[in-house]
Amino acid sequence: MLNIKLNIKLNDPAAAAIVVGKNGTPEKPEGVPIFAWKGESVEEYWEYTAKALDFGDGKGPNCIVDDGGDATLLIHQGYLFEEKEIAPDPSKGKNREEKAIFTVLLEIYEKDPKYWHKIVDEVYGCSEETTTGVHRLEQMEKKKTLLFPAIDVNNSVTKSKFDNTYGCRHSLPDGIMRATDVMIGGKTVVIAGYGDVGKGCAEAMRGQGARVVVTEIDPICALQAAMDGFEVRKMNSLVKTADIFVTCTGCKKVVTIDHMRQMKDGAIVGNIGHFDHEIDMDGLYQDPDVVRENIKPQYDRFVFKDGHGVHVLAEGRLLNLGCATGHPSFVMSFSFSNQVLAQLMLVEQKGKLEKKVYNLPKHLDEKVARLHLGHLGIELEALTEEQSKYLEIPIEGPFKSENYRY
Ligand SMILES: NC(=O)c1ccc[n+]([C@@H]2O[C@H](COP(=O)([O-])OP(=O)(O)OC[C@H]3O[C@@H](n4cnc5c(N)ncnc54)[C@H](O)[C@@H]3O)[C@@H](O)[C@H]2O)c1
Repeated sequence: MLNIKLNIKLNDPAAAAIVVGKNGTPEKPEGVPIFAWKGESVEEYWEYTAKALDFGDGKGPNCIVDDGGDATLLIHQGYLFEEKEIAPDPSKGKNREEKAIFTVLLEIYEKDPKYWHKIVDEVYGCSEETTTGVHRLEQMEKKKTLLFPAIDVNNSVTKSKFDNTYGCRHSLPDGIMRATDVMIGGKTVVIAGYGDVGKGCAEAMRGQGARVVVTEIDPICALQAAMDGFEVRKMNSLVKTADIFVTCTGCKKVVTIDHMRQMKDGAIVGNIGHFDHEIDMDGLYQDPDVVRENIKPQYDRFVFKDGHGVHVLAEGRLLNLGCATGHPSFVMSFSFSNQVLAQLMLVEQKGKLEKKVYNLPKHLDEKVARLHLGHLGIELEALTEEQSKYLEIPIEGPFKSENYRY
């Protein structure tokens, strides 16, 4: 039997519908139990990540569906302490998050110093949803510390070129509007990072009539932004004049406290990348001269000594999830179809996969797309036999080589 627990972020009505199930009622739910709440602390987050991995009697999951790699990270960190036979020391955590992780791991270590070893023995592998999580997995593979096979769902074209781009194109303006109700048209909006997410965000802001400026470190993406008609500048040249700042880099301290010190009064700062450290939230919290005023849930004004304030969305966490309800289910269906196929691959190929990061094969990526055509009334051409022979492409696909860029 497979033990699968799903760790995803949902808004409350969606969660309620899943709990009730197709044929259930609120009084007699027949769906899937969900344990979640919005606005949990970092400490609660890690405590419950550990609980989600605890199936009782020292058992854990066989297959992990991860988003950002936190479940995988906790297992690996716990395993490493056990391997070194060192009890985790929360006081040695580099920041609040690491302290919270070490606290949870210490509690487990004191009860059973081989707890994570037993969990790892049972894991077939994990499938990872997002750019940042995959980056972590690749680093572990490189250092040869990856403890089980992993499947990079993000690399499926039907994931990163849809969820990241079109999903964010939808949910970025949704998050900004629900939180602030400001007019986006006419404003100068800085999009930091012109990768898959940044492309969708920049397009959405332009669609609202904003004057969009991009920042980038990669010359190819910078050139793409320019060819798409966006100005590309350094953050330092923009901090004093722009109205809205959105980070989508997967990097850290892209908006620093120093930047925020120089911003206009009422500048809006939000992050749609994975971690809150794209904006220097720690810097804001730790500066004794900065006063936090809560405007409403998931929207705060941080006031500096000179009286000017910046308005931060969702405490620097993913603003489209904190201030709105994330991506629409249609685009998430692409991502989760890939997750399902990845989970099937882990089960079907149990014991055959190495401790590496794998991609889903092209024909499955195409299958995910094909499954969603009907919903949009899309008519697809089919190659004739003559054409198929001419192009040397099978009639049923795959239609592109692995390195085609879409
Ligand atoms: N909020 C969501 O719903 C959602 C959805 C998908 C992905 N994500 C997250 O968004 C982030 C970006 O994902 P992506 O798929 O676009 O990644 P990506 O790698 O395609 O794009 C990131 C871009 O940021 C640029 N960059 C990195 N550091 C920079 C810096 N200091 N200044 C300016 N640019 C910089 C990179 O060159 C790259 O082009 C990741 O953290 C990912 O996990 C969020």
